[in-house]
Amino acid sequence: MAANSVNRQIVLKRRPQGELRPEDLELIERPVSRPAAQQVLVRTLWLSLDPYMRLRAAGHERYFPAVPIGEPMIGGAVSRVVESHHPNFKTGDIVEEYSGWQDYALVDGHTLRKVNPSLAPISTALSVLGMPGLTAYLALIDVGRPEPGDTLVIGSAAGAVGAVVGQIGKIAGCRVVGIVGGPQKASYITNELGFDAVIDRHKDEIIAALNRTCPEGINIYFENLGGPITDAVYPRLAHRARVVVCGGITEYTSSDPKSNSHLQNILFSEARVGGFNIFSYASRYDDARRRLAHWFKQGRLKYREDIVEGLENAPVAFARLFEGTNFGKLLVRVSAE
Ligand SMILES: NC(=O)c1ccc[n+]([C@@H]2O[C@H](COP(=O)([O-])OP(=O)(O)OC[C@H]3O[C@@H](n4cnc5c(N)ncnc54)[C@H](OP(=O)(O)O)[C@@H]3O)[C@@H](O)[C@H]2O)c1
Repeated sequence: MAANSVNRQIVLKRRPQGELRPEDLELIERPVSRPAAQQVLVRTLWLSLDPYMRLRAAGHERYFPAVPIGEPMIGGAVSRVVESHHPNFKTGDIVEEYSGWQDYALVDGHTLRKVNPSLAPISTALSVLGMPGLTAYLALIDVGRPEPGDTLVIGSAAGAVGAVVGQIGKIAGCRVVGIVGGPQKASYITNELGFDAVIDRHKDEIIAALNRTCPEGINIYFENLGGPITDAVYPRLAHRARVVVCGGITEYTSSDPKSNSHLQNILFSEARVGGFNIFSYASRYDDARRRLAHWFKQGRLKYREDIVEGLENAPVAFARLFEGTNFGKLLVRVSAE
């Protein structure tokens, strides 16, 4: 690294109202700092863009700490170690950490995780073998408790989390029904991932499509959406169904998120509705990662990435998550591997 290297950072300029827009963010330049004892300086290679960032930017403190105004946006990244003052890392190591929307980051060695580049392309540490994959596995297994023959319905089924949920659902013997936006995604989950049925939220009438694809009711609903699709799903839950409340992207852009009022349906179906937060499961990551890697090596877990070139394009690209125009795990290539 040159002594005068500049660190480009995308910082939060103001809290978003509605969608997180490029005007809410600002690209600034700061000098790259040298690491202190136990710290590691990393160069970002891949940055993950995820829906939760909208909540962190808005500052829903009840769920997560807010991104401070003037600080880089939160974000998971895969990086290369440039300089290490921590005994576990050396220059050139590939690592993963929530090091934010920036070219360089100073991180504490104890929070860094090494990525094994011989296992899979390193970007998968942010997709199928990273936080979305871990979420899919742990939430489905722990809260969804899939059984052979269950009908599993997934919102945003071609997305980073949903696509893995469906594939694990198939491994567990479920009948998997995916809800997606558009024909390309519909074809992907049925023809490439082997889901049993698909509902295109742009084309199909949701209630009729759920009745058609889930004639015996829904045993597991993997909730990523909220809004009108959730309204249509809940009355169709089977007896003792499980609802995995993983996300609610339709409500993330609201400054006053409302909860869906489905208590009567939950009561009468005796459904089990469980909240899930990946950050509470840290002690199980290694185990889950081993399981995902095992299926991955067997060719039973496919993945798709939607790659944006350049840190400066992250603010515009982020909106695609909310427009549904990302197709696969949305990633930013910040610098060449
Ligand atoms: N609880 C946790 O710990 C945890 C961890 C990770 C992710 N999550 C949640 O999991 C969900 C999926 O995240 P992801 O990273 O895998 O994102 P993703 O599914 O790759 O991308 C978001 C997708 O959501 C769908 N969408 C966006 N706006 C929508 C709307 N108004 N109505 C219906 N669908 C809409 C779009 O897919 P279509 O156009 O195909 O419908 C869009 O492509 C999110 O709710 C996220 O917050 C939760």
